[in-house]
Amino acid sequence: MTKRVTISVNGKPISVPAGTIVAAAVVESGAARFRSSLHGESRGPLCGMGVCFECRVTINGQPHSRSCLTLCEEGLEVRTDE
Ligand code: FES
Repeated sequence: MTKRVTISVNGKPISVPAGTIVAAAVVESGAARFRSSLHGESRGPLCGMGVCFECRVTINGQPHSRSCLTLCEEGLEVRTDE
């Protein structure tokens, strides 16, 4: 049986299998957007491998973290541009 961990996305608790990438957990949470462009357009994961930087969110208070490169761990706190 796969171990599950609980993280929060914009203050909302969500349970995911351990090792899930944060980007997938953000999608699962139903968050409207990952971040906004300088002109206010919604941005989200594009490459899924750390190259485009479109998936940046705040993880445990660290802004501009690439959510496609970070694995979910118990208690992780994620903030997107809501
Ligand atoms: S999706 Fe491209 S860097 Fe994360």
